[in-house]
Amino acid sequence: MKKLIAVLLLAVMPAFALGAEHGVELDKVDIDLTDKPALQDGARTFANYCMGCHSAKFQRYERVADDLGIPHDVMLDNLVFSGAKIGDHMKIGMQPQDAKTWFGAAPPDLTLVARVRGEDWLYSYLRSFYADPSRPYGVNNKVFPNVGMPNVLVGLQGNQVIGCKQVQTVVDGKKQFDPLTGSPLTHEACDQLTVEPNSGTLTTEQFDEKVKNLVAFLAYSANPVKLESQRIGTYVLLYLAFFFVFAYLLKREYWKDVH
Ligand code: HEC
Repeated sequence: MKKLIAVLLLAVMPAFALGAEHGVELDKVDIDLTDKPALQDGARTFANYCMGCHSAKFQRYERVADDLGIPHDVMLDNLVFSGAKIGDHMKIGMQPQDAKTWFGAAPPDLTLVARVRGEDWLYSYLRSFYADPSRPYGVNNKVFPNVGMPNVLVGLQGNQVIGCKQVQTVVDGKKQFDPLTGSPLTHEACDQLTVEPNSGTLTTEQFDEKVKNLVAFLAYSANPVKLESQRIGTYVLLYLAFFFVFAYLLKREYWKDVH
């Protein structure tokens, strides 16, 4: 019995360990892997803003183009900057050793990052950079403290700062309102992120959408067969529905003689 308890405890340990690592609350994101335009936008952002440093080396350009409905020539002209061919893996030229010297840490390959970190983590991480002059690149990150990555999306998002401000009180996931006046109940909270108005080219909503699409692309890339299995799943269900009708008619035919 003791052994069993020990085994059970060991089994749930990783869950605690993971929970303990992210002290901050993550923003939830709802990804739709069937939304091709969103995935295409994410692929474009990935090629333009991430592939300077990160590879997706288990993925081929051709597979991405075919899965997301991007014609090969459009893919080559707009999403491939390294002179790679359509059948090549999505590798980059930067050497890990150089990257380590420049950033203090080598940018990891991102093909599977959505599986390792989770979609909510990625969505929160990419929107949580803030100005911190004490860091080498002048930015820090609330979700990944002292990260070596610069804020590559700052031009789109604008300059984000951290500090104390009034925020609406939330209890058990519900926003709180004053029962008498109906106005939102607020309290002062610190470690809050605020984007300086008009410092980026996108509005907050547009930026969140951009990052959501990028995370959708990373989620697809970590599990490309998911798109395929969803498509095949639909046909399987249709087939079963169709088959059911005939099986039923056949059953009726057989049982006619029995009764
Ligand atoms: C200028 C180089 C550079 C660019 C461009 C860049 N990154 Fe990074 N990124 C890094 C470095 C360096 C690290 C490692 C940081 C560390 O471990 O401290 C990193 C880490 C990460 C991590 C954390 C990985 C992990 O699990 O530890 C994610 C996720 C990530 N980057 C996503 C992105 C995305 C998405 C983009 C494009 C929007 C991007 N990065 C663009 C340099 C870059």
